[in-house]
Amino acid sequence: MLISFEGIDGSGKSTQIEFLRKRLKEAGHTVRVFREPGGSEISERIRSILLDANQKINPVTELLLFSAARSQLVAEKVIPLLEEGTVVILDRFYDSTTAYQGYGRESVPIDYINEINTIASHQREPNLTFYMRLSVEQAEKRTAQKEKDRMERSGKDFYQKVVEGFDKLAESEKRFITLDAEKPKEIIQDQIWDHVSALL
Ligand code: TYD
Repeated sequence: MLISFEGIDGSGKSTQIEFLRKRLKEAGHTVRVFREPGGSEISERIRSILLDANQKINPVTELLLFSAARSQLVAEKVIPLLEEGTVVILDRFYDSTTAYQGYGRESVPIDYINEINTIASHQREPNLTFYMRLSVEQAEKRTAQKEKDRMERSGKDFYQKVVEGFDKLAESEKRFITLDAEKPKEIIQDQIWDHVSALL
């Protein structure tokens, strides 16, 4: 089973992923978690280029680098693990590319993004995608103290478009489960577990 988590920076994905990982383990499942971009040596190297605040990266180059990092992670780790029956949890997957590079950066038309996503994911689709929905204002409050990486320096208008992108995906993709990231984390945990356990 492949489960992805999506949402803007500060939406609380990591906390929920850690909770789900533990709960699946307690239920006797083998679980692996990977972050995107990253999760394999090559993908982590690409990540350091992508998040380097000293670099100026062309939007199309950015799109292709996120996709290249994804392709390597999926081929090297995700597919073999899924074939062994491991539950794989991804901290971001190609919906982030649609939201950030497609709607946020408007790098290329969304139809092209969809094609690139299909290629980079080696045609793997998540069984479930949890979208931790948070307003840009709330996210800004939560991340105010953090040192900002290259993506996080993109500004409020950019993040507003990213949220709109995720909202559009949530309307059109059946695998999307939208969660209100402002709710207490215990409530969100239970909602996530209800959906995952129904699929197991
Ligand atoms: P990260 O520190 O992992 O952010 P977070 O903890 O919020 O997930 O950095 C990943 C950044 O890269 C984040 O700003 C989102 C962005 N991103 C894209 O723009 N496109 C993508 O396809 C992916 C996977 C991430």
